[in-house]
Amino acid sequence: MNRRARTPIKQVLQADQTAELCVQGWVRSVRRGKEVSFIELNDGSCFASLQLVLSPELGNYSAASRVGTGACLSVSGDLVESPAAGQRWELQVKQVEILGVADDSYPLQKKRHSFEFLRSIAHLRPRSNSFGAVFRMRSALSFAVHQFFQERGFLYVQTPIITANDCEGAGEMFRVSTLDIENPPKNSGKIDWSQDFFGERTGLTVSGQLQGELFATAFSDIYTFGPTFRAENSNTSRHAAEFWMIEPEIAFADLADNCKLGEDFLRYLVSYALKNCQEDLQFFNQRIEKGLIDKLEALAGAEFKTISYSEAVERLQKCGQRFEFPVHWGSDLQSEHERYLTEQVFNGPLFVTDYPKEIKAFYMRMNDDDKTVAAMDLLVPRVGEIIGGSQREERLDVLQARMAECGVPAEHLDWYLDIRRWGSCPHAGFGLGFERLLMYLTGMENIRDVIPFPRTPGNARF
Ligand code: 4AD
Ligand code: MG
Repeated sequence: MNRRARTPIKQVLQADQTAELCVQGWVRSVRRGKEVSFIELNDGSCFASLQLVLSPELGNYSAASRVGTGACLSVSGDLVESPAAGQRWELQVKQVEILGVADDSYPLQKKRHSFEFLRSIAHLRPRSNSFGAVFRMRSALSFAVHQFFQERGFLYVQTPIITANDCEGAGEMFRVSTLDIENPPKNSGKIDWSQDFFGERTGLTVSGQLQGELFATAFSDIYTFGPTFRAENSNTSRHAAEFWMIEPEIAFADLADNCKLGEDFLRYLVSYALKNCQEDLQFFNQRIEKGLIDKLEALAGAEFKTISYSEAVERLQKCGQRFEFPVHWGSDLQSEHERYLTEQVFNGPLFVTDYPKEIKAFYMRMNDDDKTVAAMDLLVPRVGEIIGGSQREERLDVLQARMAECGVPAEHLDWYLDIRRWGSCPHAGFGLGFERLLMYLTGMENIRDVIPFPRTPGNARF
């Protein structure tokens, strides 16, 4: 096999002159004609396939023109202008090697398959048009995330995956333990965690924020980008048990600085997609969400609106819309409320700030009213909450009082409180759900369909 001679189909299709070249990929379709046969070959490097033209002079024409959809080929030939409409180039094949055959049992047909069906065939799902486009965008946007922060001098910090702390305090941690679950060691009738691997109870991280804050008070501007785990038993289209989160944390910053960063970040990612993922976006625009590209272009130029939680509640109460969950001051905004605000009232991205302290995590900075905290959520149409963040409580005594109020055991977080003991400073940060971003950018409506191997309740097979 001569991999060095291989040209990715993306590059082939952008050629500006005829050439002799070698391509490798998987058969999307075969059309056998009287004189010649055509094969659409795709290698995943771009949305489009390359048309191969096979003539009977080929030594193995009979076998090559009978390959099934899904077969794997290595081909060399001459790239020539295609006489047919709809494509600039085609490959006049001189040699075909059939690397892997595929018979009639190949499950992907030319017709459209449901996303549910494709999820059940993990190996072939990424070979479909929709998932090919999703995962190319996922890769491109991961790069864009790093580029945004690296261009601005942020330090990339890898926070731990195994941790003893439930940052959000929501009790949704997956346990990590080496104890014998059939017969755990006990102490006065209770499980003795001191005998566990780490000498205490540990789990998979729900957020890298607390560790991120430590680094922000040394490096000023940091970000994390990694997997996050939540054992939330909510089978919704927006929640996954394993998802990726980007968490920047900035020192010398307040809530307004935090919103500004969130706005710049989202705008950058949208512009990046428009610039670098046009072919895949065209597909989503046509087949998944009509008007997607217009929506993204509008966001790239739009001003993000901001309202307080109290104003949001007032608007929702007065809007005359019937919601499944009634709204009152002090209750958390549900997805239906978030979507109503961003889709019906503001028709664009919306920051909601200053939530009641009772419905937010212990680390958020207390406002002067003693009722609300300096929180910010960014809501976008169709997806709802895409970013959640806050200014952090930098005053040691206020933070300690809040922890006691929330029942967060201080002895476990001494290392975190130290930030407030030596050189404390105002700081803020947020988390952007990477899958929610991809849902927004692609129009895909189920979070499972933007994750290579989704983990949801009852689902961890592949
Ligand atoms: O609002 P959340 O829970 O905030 C935090 O975790 C903070 N520690 C972030 C910070 O301030 N550094 O989560 C942040 C974002 C949400 O806005 C949402 O986009 C996403 O993470 N998210 C989920 N995405 C998929 N599945 C889930 N189960 C998610 N839970 C949160
Ligand atoms: Mg949140």
